[in-house]
Amino acid sequence: MKILGIETSCDETSIAIVENGTKLITSETSSSLAIHAKTGGIIPENAARQQITSIIPVLNQVLKENEFDAIAVTVGPGLIGSLLVGVETARTLSYAYKKPIIPINHLVAHIYANFIDQKKLPKFPAICLVVSGGHTDLVLMKKHKSFKYLGGTRDDAAGEAFDKTARLLNLPYPGGPSISNLAKKYKGINLNLFPRPMIRDKNFEFSFSGLKTAVYKYVKNLKITKDLQIKLSAEIQEAIVDVLISKTLLAVKKYKPKSLLLAGGVSANRRLREKIKEEIIKQNIKAELFLPNAKYSTDNAVAIASSGFFNQKISPWQKINVNPELTIMDKV
Ligand code: KG4
Ligand code: ZN
Repeated sequence: MKILGIETSCDETSIAIVENGTKLITSETSSSLAIHAKTGGIIPENAARQQITSIIPVLNQVLKENEFDAIAVTVGPGLIGSLLVGVETARTLSYAYKKPIIPINHLVAHIYANFIDQKKLPKFPAICLVVSGGHTDLVLMKKHKSFKYLGGTRDDAAGEAFDKTARLLNLPYPGGPSISNLAKKYKGINLNLFPRPMIRDKNFEFSFSGLKTAVYKYVKNLKITKDLQIKLSAEIQEAIVDVLISKTLLAVKKYKPKSLLLAGGVSANRRLREKIKEEIIKQNIKAELFLPNAKYSTDNAVAIASSGFFNQKISPWQKINVNPELTIMDKV
């Protein structure tokens, strides 16, 4: 079964066709990131306008010589103006091609990046850490469509912590890749300059807003030189990565899942990937680690199409509604 995935929740206009949830047939993505880099972050109105400009060219590219059996579209969470462009496109395609629509929860779809072009598929139960620009959630996935919520952030998301601290260091948006690229250059030792909030608490809650304040206080009276940017990038990254790994492995020890899945934009982070592998060996953890191909960590329609295959709940095109506030536990 071939599913056409549509993802327009934020600044990516992405359309893909995936066969049986696991095999990529084709995908096209147009990103308005360069425009948002100029404003230091996303202005929703600008993002929505770019979605309108990009959707038809991206769609035309994907539909060239390709057929599909159903349409999977992100209905939330995200920016309402951006989401509407994808949903209206899905509705029109459904009506014109007489194909069913499967509404998709964007956060659940992030997890399915781990099912694309992998040598083997994740086994259940699985612990999933979903870390994106707006969300940080730890869930136990018992099987497809069955989640237990373990915990999440009380304030800023992990990606947001990267984006906001990067801004304090005068680094370009998005902050995650900026910080990660600079941190690589750091040759000194890590001094643990910044707090690791809630790391010792035996629960699955996170808090990242204190990190932003700590970085603000640290740089307030300093000249931001290249050396300082490099050093603090390494410190910030290590603080975020330490908390994410510690809480995730606490969940793995408690629930003893067969697989551990990382997902969302922050799962592209190289240090997070390296360090979690090291810790899994050090702590003799048996769960098998799955990491998405980094290009499927960030927003993309490939994961949306895959999620559609494993969650085939069809809705008539008249009944599809966007929901910008959707959480990972909400059914769509
Ligand atoms: O999942 P995503 O593409 O969009 C949302 O659903 O939010 O995540 C975007 C977030 C941004 O905060 C960005 O800074 C972060 O993911 N990110 C990274 C990396 N690449 C993207 N954070 C750390 N390291 C990276 N390499
Ligand atoms: Zn996302």
